[in-house]
Amino acid sequence: MKVLVTGGAGFIGSVTARALEAGGHEAGIFDDFSTGHEWACRGRRVYRGDIRDRGALDRAFADMRPDAVLHFAGKIIVPESVTNPGLYYDVNVIGSLRLLEAMRTAGCRRIVFSSSAAVYGTPERTPIAEDAPQNPISPYGRTKKHFEEALEDARPADGLGYASLRYFNACGAAPEWGLGEVREPETHLLPIVMRAALAGKPFTVCGTDYATRDGTCVRDYVDVRDLADAHVRALERLKPGVGNSYNLGTERGTTVREVVAVAGRVLGRPVAFVEGPRRPGDPPELVASCSKAREELGWTPARSLEDSVRAVAEFVRSRGGLEAR
Ligand code: UFG
Repeated sequence: MKVLVTGGAGFIGSVTARALEAGGHEAGIFDDFSTGHEWACRGRRVYRGDIRDRGALDRAFADMRPDAVLHFAGKIIVPESVTNPGLYYDVNVIGSLRLLEAMRTAGCRRIVFSSSAAVYGTPERTPIAEDAPQNPISPYGRTKKHFEEALEDARPADGLGYASLRYFNACGAAPEWGLGEVREPETHLLPIVMRAALAGKPFTVCGTDYATRDGTCVRDYVDVRDLADAHVRALERLKPGVGNSYNLGTERGTTVREVVAVAGRVLGRPVAFVEGPRRPGDPPELVASCSKAREELGWTPARSLEDSVRAVAEFVRSRGGLEAR
């Protein structure tokens, strides 16, 4: 299939574009490069544009004539969505709706959407299944939920085939493709831990008084190469007029202290940290139930957190640091 990958210069999008090609598909990248990187999409067709720009979208569709869209483009920093919700609604909702209109005009009826565990908010129980109540606690989570609903409305109206993939905590790298997570400012735990280890400077653990096994938050860390594999599987199973949402995680919860311990073990040096206050909006525990993805997509994540840390370490070595440049 010919696939237009919005946000294909970013972390998960770039790895998935490579995975698509490895699976025999053709990937074209649509990205505004506000946070993505040119080095992450070398060797493939690139359309520079903002998803809010209908003209730029129409030009990309007219040139590439894709059979499907993988939609990664969007704003992803939860605290920023609290201080600047308008930006998140503008890009994640209005931009995504514009993409949907451009698809409709171009007759493109298949889309895989990057959604998030943030649509659930603070869950009543874990592991979280897809039919759990959705009460997002941040504007970011609400924008993801809104576009999921727009897809569900377009499904019967346009005969759209869609899959919304709700990622838990994406991590890792694909050093074999020279790809990994590089952004400024960095807010995600594993790259922060890696930077702390490399610089020999402590990072701050955000909250040590949660009702969890060691007082720190529990998350479900899933490797980016496994996420990429799930996208290819979801894409290949799309059917006109059929929509689905899938949780993507490992069904295993890991605390912040445990992440630090795994990183220290893999890197062969202790990672220093200081204990700080809670970060606003952090639910104590987010762990996925992934039986739906297992049964319907035949997807099982193959990498452990150790594998992800090893991949990040290799990626960092290959580019000589994690700082954006
Ligand atoms: N953390 C620290 N110190 C840091 C950074 C993070 O202790 O310097 C902790 C956080 O408090 C949290 C855990 O590490 O407990 C993971 O934090 P991340 O920022 O890496 O990830 P989140 O769980 O906050 O966010 C992820 C995705 C979001 C998504 C969210 C769902 O990155 O896109 O899950 O709630 F919205």
